[in-house]
Amino acid sequence: MVQFSEEKMAKVKEIISRYPEGRQKSALMPILHLAQEEWGWLSADTMDYVAGLLQLEPIEVYEVATFYTMYNLKPVGKHVFEVCHTGPCMVSGSDDIIAYIKEKLGIGVGETTADGLFTLKTAECLGACGYAPMMQMGKFYKEHLTREKVDQIIDECRRQAASLN
Ligand code: FES
Repeated sequence: MVQFSEEKMAKVKEIISRYPEGRQKSALMPILHLAQEEWGWLSADTMDYVAGLLQLEPIEVYEVATFYTMYNLKPVGKHVFEVCHTGPCMVSGSDDIIAYIKEKLGIGVGETTADGLFTLKTAECLGACGYAPMMQMGKFYKEHLTREKVDQIIDECRRQAASLN
């Protein structure tokens, strides 16, 4: 059964309380982020649960969750690479970065490695055009990407995963 932990539920209540009565839909996006933090992705059950919490129709939640690429609608790896492929990043080499990540990890865009460590996605402009080419990785931006930097990032993720095993 889908249910937020006590700690997350307290946060949900705090977020809802920021908005006037009847405007709880405004809390939808931050609560979807919390749900994604809790379960890694947004299943239909999770979206229905969030709809119930906010007294919304499930379709209202699906509309938002499917519109924004930052919400994962299927299970993703521990590290999600969202490589920007909009104009400024593209002219700075994002296509090459995407191709390199695909080759190095053996996955396509939208796919996850068999070990569950990495998912590759593309994203529209992430507002860091001056640092192109770039990608978002969780809460962090990885900027001025080169093949070498991609190698370092992947190695670091693998090191972290190995140290936890
Ligand atoms: S075009 Fe990539 S961050 Fe703006």
